[in-house]
Amino acid sequence: MVSLATTIGSVELRAPVLTASGVVGHGVEFARYLRPSELGAIVVKSMKSTPWQGNPAPRLLPTAAGMVNSVGLSGPSLAHWLANELPRLEVTGASVVASIWGNNIDEYHEAAVVLSKAPDCLVAVEVNVSCPNLDDRNRMFAHSAEATAQAVAASRNSGLPCWAKLSPNAADIVEIAAAAQSAGAQAVVLTNTLLAMVIDPETRRPLLGAKRGGLSGAAMRPVAVRACYDVHEAIPDLPIVGVGGVTNCEAVVQFLAAGACAVEVGTATFADPRAPLRILRDFTTWCDRHDIAQVRDLVGSAHN
Ligand SMILES: Cc1cc2nc3c(=O)[nH]c(=O)nc-3n(C[C@H](O)[C@H](O)[C@H](O)COP(=O)(O)O)c2cc1C
Repeated sequence: MVSLATTIGSVELRAPVLTASGVVGHGVEFARYLRPSELGAIVVKSMKSTPWQGNPAPRLLPTAAGMVNSVGLSGPSLAHWLANELPRLEVTGASVVASIWGNNIDEYHEAAVVLSKAPDCLVAVEVNVSCPNLDDRNRMFAHSAEATAQAVAASRNSGLPCWAKLSPNAADIVEIAAAAQSAGAQAVVLTNTLLAMVIDPETRRPLLGAKRGGLSGAAMRPVAVRACYDVHEAIPDLPIVGVGGVTNCEAVVQFLAAGACAVEVGTATFADPRAPLRILRDFTTWCDRHDIAQVRDLVGSAHN
């Protein structure tokens, strides 16, 4: 039987399927549907040092092959989560990845300082740089190599292995990934949602409360696979976590072949909250049927 263990930089995970940030809340809600300890890790919704309200409704719209959301990173403060929600997730035996964001570089630093007091179940911090930088005319951190590097460097105080979550809308994602690595990221998470909008034909107005949102789900899978492929080809020593439209085990194989060491499942959990576990089990069967002894044998195989 295939050995499912995988390694992301210094982090060893029991399986290559994780949840994606933002789709399982802050973790405990999700434990009703499956045992979080069976997955590689639970990546919780992005938080910062102070609570954040997020965007006006409507925040979610279905599209042909996925959804568009403008949730806007609403959530409690990191300190509240550490004290009140993380302990309930910790008892499930899950490996947990915290996700942080900021409106400016100082807020990444503040978030990382709060996380430095976190318990052992936290195995890494995902630094979500796919959000607007208020000090740079709302330009996304992840669209600038310099801002990405600054946000990653500011997040290193947490003492946890740092993963940089990038945007597929960057003009040159290899340049951004290299900047994240130089600033101390052990891995990159590829990718966050694609910038998107839906307009109501009757009113001729944008439908989302915040007008603009992000496209996720199967529709974006080829974009995220391409990002993984390009980054692995240019920087083969940089571990990648692939995310975007992982809805089945074949998608996991695509991301691993492109160069990812693990994948995260997001939008698929809206249709089926057990999707991450179903996909992991199907992937295990797929590996056994294809005589794959270990996950690492698949990683980067599209480049050979
Ligand atoms: C409703 C919703 C909320 C999300 N919130 C976050 C978030 O808080 N932080 C983050 O880094 N990504 C967030 N994402 C992006 C996902 O983690 C993921 O990168 C993206 O949806 C692509 O994966 P998928 O196609 O499997 O959903 C969110 C996505 C959705 C659909």
